[in-house]
Amino acid sequence: MGDRLYGLAWFPYPAGTYAEYLTVPAYHLAPMPRSASFVEAACFPMAALTAWQMLEAVEARAGRQVLISGASGGVGHLAVQLAVARGATVTALARPDHHATLHELGAHTCVDYTDPAAVTASGKFDAALDLVGFDFGASLFDHVTPGGAIALATAWSIEGYRDAAAQRGIRVASCLVEPDPIALATVSELVDSGAVRVVVGAEFDLSHAAEAQRWVKDRRGFGKAAIVVNTPERT
Ligand SMILES: NC(=O)c1ccc[n+]([C@@H]2O[C@H](COP(=O)([O-])OP(=O)(O)OC[C@H]3O[C@@H](n4cnc5c(N)ncnc54)[C@H](OP(=O)(O)O)[C@@H]3O)[C@@H](O)[C@H]2O)c1
Repeated sequence: MGDRLYGLAWFPYPAGTYAEYLTVPAYHLAPMPRSASFVEAACFPMAALTAWQMLEAVEARAGRQVLISGASGGVGHLAVQLAVARGATVTALARPDHHATLHELGAHTCVDYTDPAAVTASGKFDAALDLVGFDFGASLFDHVTPGGAIALATAWSIEGYRDAAAQRGIRVASCLVEPDPIALATVSELVDSGAVRVVVGAEFDLSHAAEAQRWVKDRRGFGKAAIVVNTPERT
């Protein structure tokens, strides 16, 4: 009784996570970071597990150069920190106004994705995370070295690229996040050690959930949007 837990409930099945109460299997949960507020903790599971599972898929580790698109986003800014925590050297693709924060979070190099010449000049990587998809995601294949790997988070069609990737010896991993209490426990340790933090870009009361959706859709901010319910338990 009284344990502070967090988790990715049921995904990819509907969980009703805008509800104030829900049932969830114990194996979807892990102790939340002791140093995090409930709002911060709620921002981790979906984004951090997606980032972690993609980094596992491309074997991000010491000695490997990793390119991360969508680096200012909810998943991306955690992927940058988790990749650094795994020992990888990280290049983050983001707008220039987000570069300072990404450097502060540990990114070794930042590249402006709105400048095609800068992206072209960014070079080749052992691994890439595609958090954007479509034409931009497709362009990332050109930045992965033969023998490298790319993990895709988005549902864009990769059929046209599978053959090209296979010819170049690039491994493609289509990732769909799933509950993982062991990885979440690792995330909690990294948060409590100070290696990883979530940036809560905006908070919305549950009664303004539609505004939260708009913030995500029209985003210019950094990090995660949180929907909060003001109950006494959450502080
Ligand atoms: N497969 C899975 O299990 C799974 C799980 C979670 C999320 N996802 C997907 O992963 C993606 C990222 O999720 P998220 O929550 O991090 O989204 P997010 O918070 O909205 O972040 C999206 C990021 O993409 C950047 N971006 C937008 N348009 C771009 C473009 N044309 N070129 C390069 N970068 C661009 C944005 O940068 P600016 O703000 O600077 O424009 C932002 O950093 C979404 O498509 C989401 O649906 C998949």
